[in-house]
Amino acid sequence: MITVQNLQKHFKLNKQYRGAWGSVRTLFSREYEVVKAVDDISFEVARGELVGYLGPNGAGKSTTIKMLTGLLVPSGGELAVNGRLPWRDRQAYVARIGAVFGQRTTLWWDLPVIESLELLQHIYHVPNGRFRQNLADFETMLELKPFLNTPVRSLSLGQRMRADLCAALLHDPDLLFLDEPTIGLDVVAKERIRQFIRHVNRERGTTVLLTTHDLSDVQKLCDRVLIIDRGKLLYDGSLDALQTRFGGRRELVVDLAEPYSDVSVAGATVVARENGRVTYQFTREEIGASELIGRLSQRFRIQDLAVREPDIEATVRRIYEERLLEN
Ligand SMILES: Nc1ncnc2c1ncn2[C@@H]1O[C@H](COP(=O)(O)OP(=O)(O)O)[C@@H](O)[C@H]1O
Ligand SMILES: [Mg+2]
Repeated sequence: MITVQNLQKHFKLNKQYRGAWGSVRTLFSREYEVVKAVDDISFEVARGELVGYLGPNGAGKSTTIKMLTGLLVPSGGELAVNGRLPWRDRQAYVARIGAVFGQRTTLWWDLPVIESLELLQHIYHVPNGRFRQNLADFETMLELKPFLNTPVRSLSLGQRMRADLCAALLHDPDLLFLDEPTIGLDVVAKERIRQFIRHVNRERGTTVLLTTHDLSDVQKLCDRVLIIDRGKLLYDGSLDALQTRFGGRRELVVDLAEPYSDVSVAGATVVARENGRVTYQFTREEIGASELIGRLSQRFRIQDLAVREPDIEATVRRIYEERLLEN
């Protein structure tokens, strides 16, 4: 559905000079600094997927979404959505997709929400029956009723995001782009938005590409994540596979029922021992948790045990910092 190949977006910035004469020099300067906001990124998204596009601030997420929605023309590489080039014939293109930008609304600031939605109905030529049905569905799921008659400028951030989501889906697009849809929201509001996104993907079959710097969005929603930083794609796959490949060691904490002199076991390392409590470290490649527990229970009487997974947040941070996947 989406094909991105060696996509690039470079911004040329006039070199800035400091000081009083600096500003004059800047004005006449022909020297540029190039910001490689998106630098040779390739991926594909299939129909029905819900893909997370994860990266820290400034990674190039919004720039990618802007190219995918036809707002920006790539500097290089290829980009096609359903075989179309987004920036060419943008009018026809946007009628087929939905887009929500967390940082700015697509609704009319001074109009009540309902009037904005009705305007969009006309712009996108949504048949009356379809419009009413969709509005009724979204009204319930997003709890829009209490503020349908409120001007957009008076909405809270969470309300505005819900109104924007409704607006983006009224014309039944089969592809939805969300740029930081949970930014600035509290935990409850985030959860509500996530549930709605999941619903739209599962029940309506809408393909979703969601950018975020919030790992928990991706953890809760996406089977697949693209991790980007400084314009480069660092990872494409599931978070589980990411943990397997790059995660730290898992830990098994066991309370033994009797004192044993030798608590060692093949496949794991003893890293702590205190009274009857032993902590083992192991990796997924070496041994599965159940196999390790099986081995231990053959040799020792076990009172209690717990498996501690390595912190996914730490794994992702390591990917940004150590650029584990470069080269
Ligand atoms: N219009 C622009 N002109 C110059 N630089 C830009 C422009 N838009 C984005 N950038 C730069 O490109 C990089 C990526 O920005 P962006 O795509 O907004 O990142 P993200 O959405 O991941 O936070 C940043 O360094 C940003 O400053
Ligand atoms: Mg952004």
